[in-house]
Amino acid sequence: MGKFSPVPGTADIFPEESMQYRKIEETGADIFGRYGYGELRTPTFEYTEVFQKGLGDDTEVVQKEMYTFEDRGGRSLTLRPEGTAGVMRALLATDVMNGVEQRVFYYGSMFRGERPAAGRRREFHQIGVENVGRIAPELDAECIAMLYHFLQEIGIKDVDIRINSRGVAEDRIESGKALKEYFAAHINDMCDDCKVRLEKNIWRILDCKQQACRDIIKDAPDYRLFFSEESRNYFKTVCETLDALKVPYIVDPMLVRGLDYYVHTVFELSHNCLGSAIAIAGGGRYELYLPGQSRPVRGVGFAAGIERLLMVREALGIKEESDRKDLVYLVSLGDEARKANIELAGILRRNGLKVALEVENRSMKAQMRSANNCGAAFVVIRGENELAEKCAVIKNMTDGTENKVPIEKIYDSLI
Ligand code: HAM
Repeated sequence: MGKFSPVPGTADIFPEESMQYRKIEETGADIFGRYGYGELRTPTFEYTEVFQKGLGDDTEVVQKEMYTFEDRGGRSLTLRPEGTAGVMRALLATDVMNGVEQRVFYYGSMFRGERPAAGRRREFHQIGVENVGRIAPELDAECIAMLYHFLQEIGIKDVDIRINSRGVAEDRIESGKALKEYFAAHINDMCDDCKVRLEKNIWRILDCKQQACRDIIKDAPDYRLFFSEESRNYFKTVCETLDALKVPYIVDPMLVRGLDYYVHTVFELSHNCLGSAIAIAGGGRYELYLPGQSRPVRGVGFAAGIERLLMVREALGIKEESDRKDLVYLVSLGDEARKANIELAGILRRNGLKVALEVENRSMKAQMRSANNCGAAFVVIRGENELAEKCAVIKNMTDGTENKVPIEKIYDSLI
């Protein structure tokens, strides 16, 4: 590793690439805005208990992946591993606990101490939404439909959407018992993680990726039969609304999701170019408890990993064009021309053009090379003669044509 490489699992994002991020963020803001969502920016770190209580102490994220540190006053703080808990903390300042709906979206860095791999970073970026304060299966369906709409707009059309119901706490008592009984009888043939899950979180066994475990999981009892009629109807309405909205999905009873706050609907999206094990987005309905709160905040939402969306777009050959395509490069021959061009650059920039210019005294050839290197669309050339004639030579770099234009026509010739 070079001395100046970023920490493994983090990355420097140079202009060509940040343009791709910006496209995702701007399209999200546009699409989510059409559904009544406004942007909420919350801090990058929170008191550690916001995540411990919010995501659940036994979750993998809280147990193994958080970047936690003490501030000078000895308070434990954590870099956000996801957006939902912090957003809920912020929304306590509104009337969400009294059933007043809030629709917010966010994007930014998230931090998880995972082993870095393709599509898995320690600092990554999410774009997400939360619809908070109200409960209705139609809202869950609308949320999935909006995610689908957003993905289409960024060119990711053929996604695989898996959905499932987690029921509510009461639904999980009998169904959890049935699963525990079944898995306890097979646990000797299952992986070490599943042995821990059997005691700590039986549901996480369902999405174990080990083949030996999968062979056992496929014959597990159908836990959904233990869910109340109300919960089953809730999920049925989610599915019917998705059908009406023409959103394609499959119901996957093994989909559990890794955070403890989910109730009712959960969903996860993947794309065949990355494989089904790499989720490009996930979410669901939740009841999230915050420190000092006896009642949970209720909402539905999702987050997509921007790096993963960009991997899919790259595999599909979708890329934002360089925004330097319309760059104008000013070539100056001699001190006087250089001074005049510095002034001209200011005027053109104030009129909205992108302008780069030569500020050293270099040869015409060297300056033209620079113009080429930065991908300029036009080069404006001025030397003593042009200054005397109050004109400039404008070279169109695409077709190679050159024109002499009077000074007052320069701007018009460049747009
Ligand atoms: P999550 O499934 O943990 O959900 O993360 C959402 C997305 O973030 C994943 O589908 C993936 O695309 C991306 N992601 C997660 N970890 C990494 C990583 N280490 N490197 C790159 N990308 C990653 C949540 O975070 C929930 N807060 C979503 C939610 C919002 N649920 C309800 N509202």
